[in-house]
Amino acid sequence: MHNLAIYGFGGVGRAVLAQALPHFTLALVADRSGYVVGPLSNERWLAVAAAKAQGTTLASLPEGTSGDWRAALPAGCLVADTTAEANAAQLVELVAQGQRLALANKKPLCDDLNLFQALVGERRTRYEATVGAGLPIVVTTNLLRDSGDQVQRIEGCLSGTLGFLLSSIEQGKPYSSAVREAKALGWTEPDPRDDLGGVDVARKALILARTLGYQWNLSDIAIEPLYPAEFADLSIAEFMAQLEQLDAGYAQRQAEAVAQGQTLRYVASITPDGARIGLQAVANDSPLGSLKGPDNLVAWTTKRYQERPLVVRGPGAGVEVTASAVLFDLLALC
Ligand SMILES: NC(=O)c1ccc[n+]([C@@H]2O[C@H](COP(=O)([O-])OP(=O)(O)OC[C@H]3O[C@@H](n4cnc5c(N)ncnc54)[C@H](OP(=O)(O)O)[C@@H]3O)[C@@H](O)[C@H]2O)c1
Repeated sequence: MHNLAIYGFGGVGRAVLAQALPHFTLALVADRSGYVVGPLSNERWLAVAAAKAQGTTLASLPEGTSGDWRAALPAGCLVADTTAEANAAQLVELVAQGQRLALANKKPLCDDLNLFQALVGERRTRYEATVGAGLPIVVTTNLLRDSGDQVQRIEGCLSGTLGFLLSSIEQGKPYSSAVREAKALGWTEPDPRDDLGGVDVARKALILARTLGYQWNLSDIAIEPLYPAEFADLSIAEFMAQLEQLDAGYAQRQAEAVAQGQTLRYVASITPDGARIGLQAVANDSPLGSLKGPDNLVAWTTKRYQERPLVVRGPGAGVEVTASAVLFDLLALC
């Protein structure tokens, strides 16, 4: 069996461990504190994961050690990056050493273009989980590209949180209540502007655009945040206290869309001319218009899928489905 290292041992990393144990020899798992290195029995690995889920750091476990986990990495090991670090340069070094990578982490793919190309160029790095979690979005984009189809447009709703928000506004809920509810449910980051700002969606769009071969950077993508610029410098408490000021504006935009037989969605749109992230009024009976709640949807309009787009739709988050995409990549890299 191939060796596997899991770098990042949060919700996704632990789910990868549980799903990967029947297929791989676990070499090590790492968190910020340090790492635990094998060989351990599968039962003991699961106990390490259970302890970590309870808040124990890896370095403080009996088998744990602090320091740089990369020094303990066996040659030719597969590595799952389940951190959220901007670590492209470190990952490029691992690829140069012959390691193969499966990423749930978007950030290294959105760094400098040369680093992206060094990471993915030799096809030693796969990253299905970075867009739509377990949904087959990267693999579908690769299939269309590699089979010689011409992708003319990719449109998608790529944030469950923003999908929930706009579905709530569609149902007549004020923007302020919808943001508060999403935060209370734990569906936003502690600062909801991290979701409302659209950068996470833009990263996913950039990953798809780069997968198609576009040599773009994050700064090339036009992003419309779901709050005005003057709210950017407020503290979280001030931002949350002033949400009501934005209710009328979003309600009006939704009413204008409804008058045209449309509804509002937060859409990532990628064409050969560029990528744009923002609010868009879409026809109620279109794939994006029929989307409800936090589900994700991606529609590819191509030379071969001209009249009706190819559509993938479903839950775009969750540790089990995200881990399954990482496992799919790991198995494909063997
Ligand atoms: N959750 C989802 O539904 C989902 C879906 C698609 C993609 N993703 C992506 O998957 C990744 C992981 O998500 P998650 O929900 O599992 O996050 P999480 O629970 O916050 O886990 C992140 C893990 O990375 C570790 N880490 C961070 N920096 C590190 C470093 N420098 N060295 C070693 N370990 C480091 C953290 O260590 P500590 O435990 O010591 O803090 C933590 O164990 C993220 O990039 C996320 O965007 C998640």
